[in-house]
Amino acid sequence: MSPEIHSKLPAVGTTIFTTMSALSVKHNAINLGQGFPDFPMNETLQSLVDKAMKDGHNQYVHMCGLPSLREQLANKVNEDYSANINLDSEITITPGGTYAIYTAFTTILRPGDEVILFEPAYDSYIPNIEINGAVAVPIALEYPDYRINWQLVKEKINAKTKAIIINSPHNPTGKVLEESDIDALKALVKNTGIFIISDEVYEHLIFDNKPHLSLLKYPDLFERTFVCFSFGKVYHCTGWKLGYCIAPESLMKEFRKVHQFNCFTCNSPAQYALAEFIQQKNEYRQLGSFLQKKRDYFQQLMQQTPFKALVSHGSYFQLYDYSAISDQRENDFAIRLTQEAGVTTIPVSAFYKTPVDNRVLRFCFAKKESTLEQAVERLVKYLS
Ligand SMILES: Cc1ncc(COP(=O)(O)O)c(C=O)c1O
Repeated sequence: MSPEIHSKLPAVGTTIFTTMSALSVKHNAINLGQGFPDFPMNETLQSLVDKAMKDGHNQYVHMCGLPSLREQLANKVNEDYSANINLDSEITITPGGTYAIYTAFTTILRPGDEVILFEPAYDSYIPNIEINGAVAVPIALEYPDYRINWQLVKEKINAKTKAIIINSPHNPTGKVLEESDIDALKALVKNTGIFIISDEVYEHLIFDNKPHLSLLKYPDLFERTFVCFSFGKVYHCTGWKLGYCIAPESLMKEFRKVHQFNCFTCNSPAQYALAEFIQQKNEYRQLGSFLQKKRDYFQQLMQQTPFKALVSHGSYFQLYDYSAISDQRENDFAIRLTQEAGVTTIPVSAFYKTPVDNRVLRFCFAKKESTLEQAVERLVKYLS
């Protein structure tokens, strides 16, 4: 008799991204579903990795990450967010933002703990919580502007609440947190034992002159927070899977215990390259305006269709309400668009544990202009 696995994640199947991407390939559709750029990354950064390998930087680096990269990151965040981060005790390089989030959850959660999250939510959060034996407590953002109802959060907090996870700029909605949200969060967690996980992978993908309100800026929040970042999102190299976590020393000490026996250390040549490239501040500072132009161009093209744009101030996603076109459920409509129009999107209902279907689809606009043009051309043709 062969052993049988008693699944730790019985409810988890194939993700919507894998399903829709496979369907996209099958129907030769333009894939605006999955969130990754289809344009090339920076060549200088590529050649710095090449150089690092040729220079022989091919062995393990320090468990917490290459010291020169952590030094540059400390300089960067201290400058950007008026923080005072210690490179030795408060930063760890991780294989991507998702891993940083998972490690933060695994560091703090025990069976029966509750974690508050906001839906629609990035799809890794709930499985990350549940695999640790904890309970996800989803709260729906208020449609159509996807605000957090802080009164509802207050009502959900109880003795079992171990953490709250926030994400700004937000995937999939493009919503950006404001000072009033920060104030509400501060008031709620003050004098509690609640941790915060702040998913800030889209920190520089922010538009319309909105400031990114990193939790690194607020000492009374940072004292209980794991802040998670992604190089993949900032430098158009999602496939490198490299990111970092910043947390106060006492939290980071425990985070590193988990990290040490999981991944131990990340890709060395990429860390050498990033330690140098990150000093070119303009690269990440111009990212917001670069992507804002893409968002605006996509919105302009989409005006030829009956899709109605919702507000997006960040990330590389734009939501569209299609209720003027169809009454079909999001999942069915997204499948139909892939099969019949040749354009792949993601149904926003896939980002909820509790079913919500507002007739909204997510489009990724981090694509070449020609890709966006072809996709909209197909939609216009299909809908005319
Ligand atoms: C909200 C959010 N967090 C984290 C990640 C993951 O980042 P990484 O690829 O660095 O793991 C993503 C990627 O899509 C994301 O959208």
